[in-house]
Amino acid sequence: MRPDLPYDFTALEPAISREALEIHFRSYHSEPYERVLAGVRGSALQGYPLARLIRELAARNPDRSLLRDAERAWSHEFFWNSMRPGGGGRPAGLLEQAIEDSYGRVDTFFGRFRATARRMSGSGWLWVTWCAGRIRLFAGTDSDPPIVHGHAPLLVLDLWEHAYYLDYYGARDMKMAYVDAFLSSLANWDFAGSQLRRLVESTTWAAPDLQQAHRPS
Ligand SMILES: [Fe+2]
Repeated sequence: MRPDLPYDFTALEPAISREALEIHFRSYHSEPYERVLAGVRGSALQGYPLARLIRELAARNPDRSLLRDAERAWSHEFFWNSMRPGGGGRPAGLLEQAIEDSYGRVDTFFGRFRATARRMSGSGWLWVTWCAGRIRLFAGTDSDPPIVHGHAPLLVLDLWEHAYYLDYYGARDMKMAYVDAFLSSLANWDFAGSQLRRLVESTTWAAPDLQQAHRPS
């Protein structure tokens, strides 16, 4: 199935403009996805869901460019779902409780999220994950998704400059202006909460050591 957005290209305005979202989606999700399709066509990996393909390629395939494209496509798909029109604000329910169990207070978690984003220089992905029974922040370099490091993802913020340059150019600190817009009006905590509920209710996801689980036999 070809990549798609879970909302219209104008749905995240004004925090993310239609122009920025169209370029981001086409150049950093759709095009890598097409390269992945071409790369696995006719092989035993054809038809694999992206997350499974990433784990297979990371474990046994020397073609790093194909792996990076698969990671880019999968991470961007997760990112689009990590935002929604009218998002932001505070997590609720099970996710709120898990954050309080892990960080003491939700505001402490938000502070760590901002501080981690500020420390990440150049490029990367800031993931909110579930690992070893607690909420964690996972600063992914390059594409490098948490699923190959035993973390189950709940939410992600794309911190590559291509994600915010067009809309936040001219801001005193354009990265942090974008991070604050994500937290105040974009973050889809309902999506993150649904991921967490699926994890805690699923016996197959109970063990977080995915690298171990997917090591080739
Ligand atoms: Fe991106």
